[in-house]
Amino acid sequence: MTTPTTEVTDHRLVGVGAVDEAGDRFDALRALHRIVKVTEPDLSYWLVLDHDLVRECLQNPAAFSSEVITPLSPDPPFAMIPIQLDPPEHTQWRRLLAQYFSPRTMGLLRPRLEERTVELVAAIRARGECDYVEDFALELPTVVFLELMGLPIDELPTFLAWEAQALAPTDEGVFDPERQIGGIFSVVGYFQAEIARRRESGERGDGLLAAMLGWELDGVPAPDDALVNCCLLLFLAGLDTVAMSLSFAMHHLATHDADRRHVARLAAAGESIDGVVEELLRFYAVPEVGRKVKQDIEIGGQQLRAGDLVVFPLVSANRDEALVAGADALDLTTGQPAPHLAFGAGPHRCLGSHLARIEMSVALAGWHRAIPDYALRPDTTPQAYWGNVHGIFSLPLEKFGS
Ligand code: HEM
Repeated sequence: MTTPTTEVTDHRLVGVGAVDEAGDRFDALRALHRIVKVTEPDLSYWLVLDHDLVRECLQNPAAFSSEVITPLSPDPPFAMIPIQLDPPEHTQWRRLLAQYFSPRTMGLLRPRLEERTVELVAAIRARGECDYVEDFALELPTVVFLELMGLPIDELPTFLAWEAQALAPTDEGVFDPERQIGGIFSVVGYFQAEIARRRESGERGDGLLAAMLGWELDGVPAPDDALVNCCLLLFLAGLDTVAMSLSFAMHHLATHDADRRHVARLAAAGESIDGVVEELLRFYAVPEVGRKVKQDIEIGGQQLRAGDLVVFPLVSANRDEALVAGADALDLTTGQPAPHLAFGAGPHRCLGSHLARIEMSVALAGWHRAIPDYALRPDTTPQAYWGNVHGIFSLPLEKFGS
């Protein structure tokens, strides 16, 4: 049975505010509603707040299409592969990609990641201060991306610059489409040239890109423009998600002494911090994923119509007390973090989840082994932004101690 729709006009998909506000801003709405209809001056979408509903919708691609993944782009000019494809087309690409993102294959990247973490942290420690976002969080996943794709590490500064252009918001937290498109075109141009170079030389080269050059769809070689599209998506999906999950984690640890000491103790003892990573991922889940309704459907007592757009803030789902008592607080000592949706659910569930977990675990353990104590620079109040992915502009850390 449907209930009267709750219309909300004061929620904003995109914004800037205190770091905790990024996740906390759903609490009041979730306490009252499971799903609401948001109307902004230029946007209209359903906001699904509860864990069970988010999971149910993401697991139903027939009713909730990935053709639109954000109300900010309701009429996308092309579909990014695989994230904007629906089954069965999506299934083909997902099968091709999945084997390269297995826990075993991702584990092979661990030594390189550990080595780079040690180098980065040593340099930061010697300086005695840093901007964690710029000096660490953005760099590490980019190194991993180059390694994964089989591209030379010399490309790091170039890719970091494109990443800043394509993924970082302006100081107002909005995305400047011209700047973003410039960054995206640069990445596309790079992969077009690299694929052409490898094809012409007759040598596929290294990494995932080498494997992609041999991929077939229905017995026919995958077209190069589709491969470029897929490389772009990997670039867009795997960099700021990890960088910003790390940044929220480090902001928390810098401002919560007992939690910081707990992580430092585990790192010093060489004990696993996987449970810590899981709980941080749950509590500070950065993505807000979107869908377009394909067929009329009732969800949480609300009638959604074909064509409606829907947003799923995963952080809201993850803090739903109906999931686990105490879900609205972070507990790093639980050892048994609640099952969460930081990586989504259903056919599009994050392909890079194993890699992301390794990256976060290596980054946090490596940092705390070398720099167990640290604090936010006192004259600054870090600011967060939110939209498709939550982020922190900058995180100045200092007072490194042992
Ligand atoms: C903490 C870091 C990360 C988080 C929180 C995260 C989260 C997500 C979420 C929620 C989705 C589902 C989107 C949807 O349903 O529309 C997704 C998809 C995806 N992610 Fe991640 N991600 C992370 C890191 C990575 C990394 C490191 C990679 C690897 C390069 C990656 C690659 C992908 C890909 C390719 C997809 C699309 C999968 C598909 O459409 O089948 N992600 N991610």
